Amino acid sequence: MGAAPAKFAWLDGKFVRWEDAKIHIRSECVIRGIGVFEGLRGYWNEKQKQMYVFRSRDHYKRLAGSMRIIRMPLPYGTEVIEQAMLDLIKRNKLREDIHIRANVYIGEGSDHTHDPAKMFVGSFVTALPRPAKKTVRTGTHATVSSWRRIDDQAMPPRAKVTGNYVNSRLAQVQAGLDGYDTAIMLDQSGKVSETAGACVVIVRDGKVYTPSVTNSILEGITRDTLIRIFQDDLGLPVVERSIDRSELYMADEMFECGSGHEISPIVSIDRMQIGDGGPGPITRAIQEKYLSAVRGKLKKYRRWLTPVY
Ligand SMILES: Cc1ncc(COP(=O)(O)O)c(C=O)c1O
Repeated sequence: MGAAPAKFAWLDGKFVRWEDAKIHIRSECVIRGIGVFEGLRGYWNEKQKQMYVFRSRDHYKRLAGSMRIIRMPLPYGTEVIEQAMLDLIKRNKLREDIHIRANVYIGEGSDHTHDPAKMFVGSFVTALPRPAKKTVRTGTHATVSSWRRIDDQAMPPRAKVTGNYVNSRLAQVQAGLDGYDTAIMLDQSGKVSETAGACVVIVRDGKVYTPSVTNSILEGITRDTLIRIFQDDLGLPVVERSIDRSELYMADEMFECGSGHEISPIVSIDRMQIGDGGPGPITRAIQEKYLSAVRGKLKKYRRWLTPVY
């Protein structure tokens, strides 16, 4: 094992050294993937010497929603975890761009019964430095996966459940082995859904489209952010509707968006070049606005930022 990537993690009410942040192998989260989580980013503003966590409230609201859907009772509110996150960032003295994970998990105690009253429900937070990926500038090559996105009737993608990511893994690993960077999954009715870890947006003839929240997607916070910025700053209303696979092949621009991915341009789909093979003008325009907003450079979007220091 190499050096610990951070000094401390937060686990069940305590700061623990990275090496000691452990959960028992007999936990339900280990055995059956039962837990819910969030992925957030914190952006360091060098000029202001400030760290801003982006849309923290909304992430913890979604965490609570995921717990509700899968009926996970937590003996305290998610605001406790949110506060722990802010304290952890300070404790680790993080002063660069970071990525945060906030998890609620089921521990030992309920083998087979799934009885919420007999389960230990715990939580943990980690935060690590994570600069933007290089592909945010250069773009990625995508394929339409032969794996379908999980469906609300069996494993609701609206809930950010740990086990849901088996579906993401199937699509992402296959895409990687086949020489692509990312995989776009279709929903059970064959309409465009999302990638392994981000929402999909396309541009056709100057109009912006994204699958609707009933196309088996995680209701992305970045997606919501971009819908508002597109409308308010670029005068482009985003059309939320079902998208056919063949519309991907007709797109002038395409990108993935998510807290981790930020805005990641897709420059080819199934080996068909999109636009001129680089990030398109509307993609670059929304990237510019988004990256200014998250770092606290746009006053009107400061309400989305939680300062740490
Ligand atoms: C499957 C999936 N879709 C979409 C997203 C984007 O969501 P958000 O913008 O809230 O990070 C994520 C990232 O968490 C994800 O894992």
